[in-house]
Amino acid sequence: MRITIGADHAGFPLKEAVKAHLVSAGHAVTDAGAYSTDSVDYPVIAGAVAGAVASGDAESGVLVCGTGLGMAIAANKVAGVRAVQVNTVAFAEMARRHNDANVVTLAGRSIDEGVAFDIVDAFLSTAFEGGRHQVRVDQISGMECQPGRTVS
Ligand code: RB5
Repeated sequence: MRITIGADHAGFPLKEAVKAHLVSAGHAVTDAGAYSTDSVDYPVIAGAVAGAVASGDAESGVLVCGTGLGMAIAANKVAGVRAVQVNTVAFAEMARRHNDANVVTLAGRSIDEGVAFDIVDAFLSTAFEGGRHQVRVDQISGMECQPGRTVS
């Protein structure tokens, strides 16, 4: 798969490990930075990865910051992106099966490398179920860029 990955300074070490894991598994990985533990603002990196997914340059995105929370908030501002912060394999699978999530965000300061590898592998290999879930994902898409709109 074509995957774009990114991190801030807090997520840099785990991002490097996940990147190597994905490359060794045969994925085509584009690194949007950061490239060191020097401080960087996470929304900038989230925007780059989310933009790549929204444009179709990447099929999926991976973002790492200290908690994964800021990255998810920022990535979800980009239309077409459904970013989820995930700490377990079970939630990675559910985010794909029911939510058709296309960006996974990880807590670089909280989860072990092995857990992160398992989460990303599950996220990338689990299919969206469609059906009634497609209706709900379409409702989410219909709310993009329409402040205050509610689903009827
Ligand atoms: C950086 O200190 C930290 O705020 C950031 O990595 C992330 O956890 C934000 O959500």
